[in-house]
Amino acid sequence: MAEIPAIEPTWSEEDPEPLVPGHAQRLEELKGLGEAEYFTYLKGSRYLAGARDLRVLQEIHTAFLGRANSHVARMMIGLPRLPVEERKIRGRAINLVKKWLAEVHEARRRALEAAAESSLAADATEPGQQRPWVGHRHVLAQVRDELLDLFHGLGYSVYVSREVELDAYNFTRLNFPPDHPARDAHDTYFVEGADGVVLRTHTSPGWVRAMEERKPPLRLVFPGRTFRAEQVDASHMDQFHQIDGLYVARNVSMADLKSTLNTFARAIYGGHTRTRLVPVFFPFVEPGCQMDVSCAICNGTGRLGESGERRCPVCKGSGWSELLGAGMVHPNVFRAVGYDPEEVTGFAFGMGLERIAMARYSIPEIRLFLENDVRFLTQF
Ligand code: PHE
Repeated sequence: MAEIPAIEPTWSEEDPEPLVPGHAQRLEELKGLGEAEYFTYLKGSRYLAGARDLRVLQEIHTAFLGRANSHVARMMIGLPRLPVEERKIRGRAINLVKKWLAEVHEARRRALEAAAESSLAADATEPGQQRPWVGHRHVLAQVRDELLDLFHGLGYSVYVSREVELDAYNFTRLNFPPDHPARDAHDTYFVEGADGVVLRTHTSPGWVRAMEERKPPLRLVFPGRTFRAEQVDASHMDQFHQIDGLYVARNVSMADLKSTLNTFARAIYGGHTRTRLVPVFFPFVEPGCQMDVSCAICNGTGRLGESGERRCPVCKGSGWSELLGAGMVHPNVFRAVGYDPEEVTGFAFGMGLERIAMARYSIPEIRLFLENDVRFLTQF
């Protein structure tokens, strides 16, 4: 009896019938033709059917059907020396074994490939990879909401005021006397054909409206869009956003202003941030000041590089960057809204949103905020 050795102990056997229907009849037929052929097909087809992957399948194919030294090749060695009649029978039997093993090999190859493909196909239990594109809030809206949230925590409510404003609210009741040079600091858009109507140049007119409507104490923030007829460049646009804050009560002091602004500055720039107040004139506050924060880029040193050889380009070497305007509400503003400056005091502050967002994210160009280029917007 011809010996059909298992070439690899890792191969496993499987019934080929499901792969190649008619397998049993083939075995019957080969049994009558020759033992070697019968056993070669029996084992070969079982190993091929049991191959667990394409690599093993190839190994088995080579072992049984390979040109040199395979089971089938070995069966053919003595063939030419056989008598004609026997050679015919054996030759036919070997050809059947070759053909049928090739069929089992092919069937198993297809099954393995199909399985590999389906394992690559979508797994319905996995989370989707391609999500539909959904938008998100504009970077300025994100910064605005973060600041409003912070002031909410300090007890401030939001007051939404109008963008088209009366000169009286934008200027006069904020203690800009008519024809006073302070008005020139605000390059104002006037509404044509409507006397005394302007696009608000700051969000401060909201204080006047809120105080006219309500009695003290007040603790409000005023977010919104503002307009100035500026020459547009990398850091100026003719529309931008501000948030003002106003706190009016009895005995509100400059110390309250300072502690509120310090809390605010450290919340957005980090607890190590230092601040300073520098006197500045605004008609609606007295005293008025600007608050600077230690530059976040050079940590207030004004210098960059290992040994401080370079000047910080952001604060231009000063170590400080300007964050907002502030001050104690001017008594004339209280008088204009019917509050008694002997009874109440208050502080106010105002800041530009674009400036804060640009410093926070190192955005070099203020125009980017309005261009609505998704390559910019999706970065935030
Ligand atoms: N309204 C001022 C401006 O737009 C900013 C400011 C607000 C200054 C509050 C002082 C107090 O320039």
